[in-house]
Amino acid sequence: MVSPAPHRTYDFVIAANRLPVDRQVKPDGTTTWRTSPGGLVTAMESVMRDREAAWVGWAGFPGEAPQPFDDGHLRLVPVGLSAEELTDYYEGFSNGTLWPLYHDVIVPPTFHRSWWNVYRTVNQRFADHVARVAAEGATVWVHDYQLQLVPAMLRDQRPDLRIGWFNHIPFPPVELFAQLPWRARILRGLLGADFVGFQRPDDARNFIRSCRAVLGATHKGDVVTWGGSDDGRSGAAPRSVRAAAVPISIDAQGFRDLADSPSVKARAQEIRESLGEPEVVLLGVDRLDYTKGIRHRLRAIGELLADGEISPPEVTFVQVATPSRERVEAYRTLREQIEGTVGRINGDFSHLGDTAVHYLHQSYPREEMAALFQVADVMLVTPLRDGMNLVAKEYVTARHDGGGALVLSEFTGAAEELKTAYLCNPHDIAGLKETILRAIRDDHEEKRRRMRSLRRQVRTYDVQVWAQDFLRALEVAPHRPPRSRRS
Ligand code: ADP
Ligand code: G6P
Repeated sequence: MVSPAPHRTYDFVIAANRLPVDRQVKPDGTTTWRTSPGGLVTAMESVMRDREAAWVGWAGFPGEAPQPFDDGHLRLVPVGLSAEELTDYYEGFSNGTLWPLYHDVIVPPTFHRSWWNVYRTVNQRFADHVARVAAEGATVWVHDYQLQLVPAMLRDQRPDLRIGWFNHIPFPPVELFAQLPWRARILRGLLGADFVGFQRPDDARNFIRSCRAVLGATHKGDVVTWGGSDDGRSGAAPRSVRAAAVPISIDAQGFRDLADSPSVKARAQEIRESLGEPEVVLLGVDRLDYTKGIRHRLRAIGELLADGEISPPEVTFVQVATPSRERVEAYRTLREQIEGTVGRINGDFSHLGDTAVHYLHQSYPREEMAALFQVADVMLVTPLRDGMNLVAKEYVTARHDGGGALVLSEFTGAAEELKTAYLCNPHDIAGLKETILRAIRDDHEEKRRRMRSLRRQVRTYDVQVWAQDFLRALEVAPHRPPRSRRS
């Protein structure tokens, strides 16, 4: 990373709540930058590696924004957020209102007018930053639920721009979306884009239905037409916006190469030895989030141990839970519940030297994740709702040796593509237990057949194809682009 470069404008601009890097303050007061958490950054980092662009986002700490700086081909443009704005916009409206509402109200969303007001202010700040760095006629790619007002705010200032928005998380059915007191404002915000992309066809359909029900918009196929303006004035020229599914993916070749490297293989061997060379390693890897189904997974594992179907040292379960949104109440409660449950299970079923559940509440470098995936004989991806879930795709890619088995929740975007996984309904604990046992006990040939087909799917539709599909759709929006490799 190098320090401030002279001011210029860019033909391609990304706007996302987070920059790809987060500033960390070490205990001795010195600071370092590290990769930001979550699937959005994992995917976009590989897409943007060789492109010249500006990336507008928050630098991961409260207070004044650092100066823009260059990171390879990327110009990083930090947006400053005060401690109060982080409470109201990020922890509040984004992660206390929208996140639970868009994930099937697994926990109840909280509606606060003050949070909404700050969400608007912060979205306006992101739009202003983008407007400043975008060249005439530039393409702007806005990301995720934190920035849903940015498309219309940007179009107001810069009608010359081509604006796309991609939702990394589910878009809820209108029956849930309609609870949101600011539902019309959010939809109007999104309709400032030329193209809006979603993880699944159902998400795109939910969005179109909401536009019809809430705004009275019309639609023909996947193109929504609406004749208002962002502040609700009538008489503005109608706009047509295309809404379609463009499911995200991973850098399959890059992840495979990483998993193939001698150091990762050696580390995988080391991990297996440190676990006591079990016959079967079960693995879960998630941000510590209530959407991920970690409690349901632990319940199933606890019962399998109690039933005597699995036991250490032959079978051991490793749960990596990345720290996430730790100031939000629901996340704090979840952490206590999970850690209590892990403690109880280990108290009941571990023996000296043989641990039933290894629980790691930490972030790791990508090499360590790749090594862990290689150790996992059965990967448990059991969210109650997830836009996509990149962990599932990383796992099948890391197991290019043909081994392993993927247990995958039906309620993930990934399940639409990864059809030969061991699919499960995580709410059905009995069914989940059976599926886990099947994934452990099926013969090798059956497992290899499933994994082969999963790997092929991820290799064919990787993150670069996703980005090309999105950008092609945006370029020709509101029309449908020529058929992609996928369709
Ligand atoms: P989400 O975006 O909701 O967190 P995804 O599964 O789509 O879920 O993406 C998570 C990303 O974060 C993956 O790239 C995964 O490898 C990475 N990841 C998850 N847990 C950790 C961890 N403990 N340390 C480092 N990276 C992690
Ligand atoms: C999901 C969201 C991203 C978010 C990430 C990490 O992937 O779709 O927008 O960045 O989780 O969450 P955080 O709140 O730490 O940014």
